[in-house]
Formats: sequence, structure tokens, C-alpha cells
Amino acid sequence: MIPLARPVMEKEEKEAVMRVMDSGMLAHGPEVENFEKEFAEYSGVKHGAAVSNGTSAIHLALAALDVGPGDEVITTSFSFIASATPILFLGAKPVFVDIDPRTFNIDPKKISEAITDKTRAIIPVHLYGQCADMDGVLKAAGDVPVLDDCAQAHGSLYKGKKAGSMGLAGMFSFYPTKNMTTGEGGMVVSNDLGFIEKIRILRNHGQVARYDHLSIGYNLRMTSLAAAIGRTQLEKLEGKNELRKRNAHLLTEGLGPIKGIETPFIQEGNEPVFHQYTVKILKGRDEVARKLTEKGIGNKVFYPTTIPSSPAMKPYVNNTFPVAEECCRQVISLPVHPLVTPDDIDTIVDTIREIMEG
Ligand SMILES: Cc1ncc(COP(=O)(O)O)c(C=O)c1O
Repeated sequence: MIPLARPVMEKEEKEAVMRVMDSGMLAHGPEVENFEKEFAEYSGVKHGAAVSNGTSAIHLALAALDVGPGDEVITTSFSFIASATPILFLGAKPVFVDIDPRTFNIDPKKISEAITDKTRAIIPVHLYGQCADMDGVLKAAGDVPVLDDCAQAHGSLYKGKKAGSMGLAGMFSFYPTKNMTTGEGGMVVSNDLGFIEKIRILRNHGQVARYDHLSIGYNLRMTSLAAAIGRTQLEKLEGKNELRKRNAHLLTEGLGPIKGIETPFIQEGNEPVFHQYTVKILKGRDEVARKLTEKGIGNKVFYPTTIPSSPAMKPYVNNTFPVAEECCRQVISLPVHPLVTPDDIDTIVDTIREIMEG
């Protein structure tokens, strides 16, 4: 079996965890603060606030903007549901827009059509590791804050700029399948210290000093154990992303000539980090997926349904998303992670050719 994803935990991660175990400081501490500094610096921004996961990173970024009832937040129709659920947690209305069929990312033209005087934030998602059209998004946004969902885009470049460095903030996930992991974990990065300080207060019971609670807050902190793993994973991220890019290149070379498959489109100026390698199978995707699984090739459909079609979101939706809906019927992701070897890629390509042409 060639799995679709597999986290890589090596000697260094194990030593980092033991260092924290021996320190006795397991919850928030210097390890978390160092991880915040290092990850922010890597992402080309000044500050970071580490949190419990990517969903809480999005939640706290919106909460720090005081998003609440009566407000609207624009996001993509095609992503993991966590790109939108925090909008509902805060009592605001999610406003979904359709995507670019080539990149799978939010279509800036549709953002312009969806903006109203109630729009309080825009959340583009850098899906599968490729940045959204940020020039278009920022232009459409005007003065409205842009919060990038970077859960799948650690180290991804847009015209030389890192994911998370272009809007007001970037929100990352360190879930085990991501390009780097802390087990569970997340981070908000921003150049705006006031915004990051607000998130640090909100993640810790609204506390500004011991037992001095400025507001109602949450407990959404990152542990020192997670931060120690994250610091180690960050050191290896560039190397691991290079392997993903190599694998993506080999897959595209092999799959490109096969009829009925569309290999990933890379928008000019983008350097994606291939969190997923996602192709379109123009007809019969589910049958191809079934046969791949039978033959031991890991694969998955991200995502079989749009976010607005989920029952939780339906009450807020009164339009359709034809591009995203077609992508739901056609996309399939194939193994591209750093443990996939060139031999594995030959196997994947040969198997798909056999299925498609056989
Ligand atoms: C695009 C996107 N946004 C948000 C999240 C939520 O991150 P987490 O699972 O760490 O809460 C994920 C990941 O699962 C994701 O892929």
C-alpha cells in the first residue's frame, strides 16, 4: 500500500519531546514562545500566537476582530468545513463564493460581488498548498481585513511572498497530515502586534495578568510538548517541501499524457508546496478511486461536497456554486508526501494508465 499521508517522526522529534518532559514545563512556556518566534520569522511576519489547532486559529483571528452577530464573513465554497465553522461559532453569517476551476481557490471576481457593508473579514484558503490569487483577493477586499487560511500551505510562495504574510493574518494547522505537524496544533501569524496580543489573551481565558480577566476567553493554548515537536518539524520543512515538489513534478510528467486526467494547474508566480497532489478525472472518478484502492494506491477525495451544501451551512445559503460542485465530482488526491519514492510514482502512474486506458 502506498499511503496518501504519513507523518514523519524521527529521532529529533523524540528528543525534543523528552527535553520538555524532563523540564517539567508541559503547558505554555518558553518552548511555545520560541516556536511562535521561529514560525513567524519563517513565514515572513513579525509575530505568532500558537494555539490548540487550525480551527481555533481561525476562530481566534475572527474573535480578535470582534466578529459577531449581524456580521458577514466571506469564504470559499470548496475547502474543509473548518474554514467556515468558526464564523458560525461567533454568531456571524458565512457568505460563500465560488472558485477558479483551475486552481480550486476562491475567485476574486466573486468576492467583489459578495461584499456588503456588513462584511467584516474575508478568508481565502490556499488549497492543496497553492496560494489563492492574493493580488485579486486583496484588491477585491479593499479595507476589509483578509485572514488567510494557510492550513495546507506552510512555506507556499506567491510572487516570492510566503503564505500568511500578505493579508492581516495567516492561520495555520499542524494536524498530522499537514506539511509539518505538532500532533494537534495551530498558529496565527501577523505583523500586527495588537491583533496577536488580543489572540494571546483570548486563547488564555481572557487573562492579561494572573487572575486578571479582561474579557471572556477560551482555553485554546498549545502545549510545550507540541511546540517542541513543531520547532523540530519546522527545521525540516523546506527539505520535506522540496521532496513534495519533486514528487509532484514526476507525477505530472507521468500523468500528463494520459487522456481524461487534468494534472494540477500552477498559477503564474506561485510556488505551491503540494500539501495534496490533486488531479481531475473528467469522467468516472469514483470508479477510478475504487480501483486505485483495490490496487494499493492510497487516494482520497478532498472534498466530495461543497461546504455550503452541508446541513449546518444550508440555512445561510441561497445561491449555487457550479464550479465547486463540478470539482467535487472530479477531484482526487494521490500520494505526494515526502516518503513517496520515484519508484512509487512509477507504480502510481502505471496503475492509473492501466485503469484509464485498460
Ligand atoms: C483548509 C483547512 N482549514 C482548516 C483546517 C482545520 O485545522 P485543524 O484540523 O488543525 O483544526 C484544516 C485542517 O484540517 C484545513 O485543511
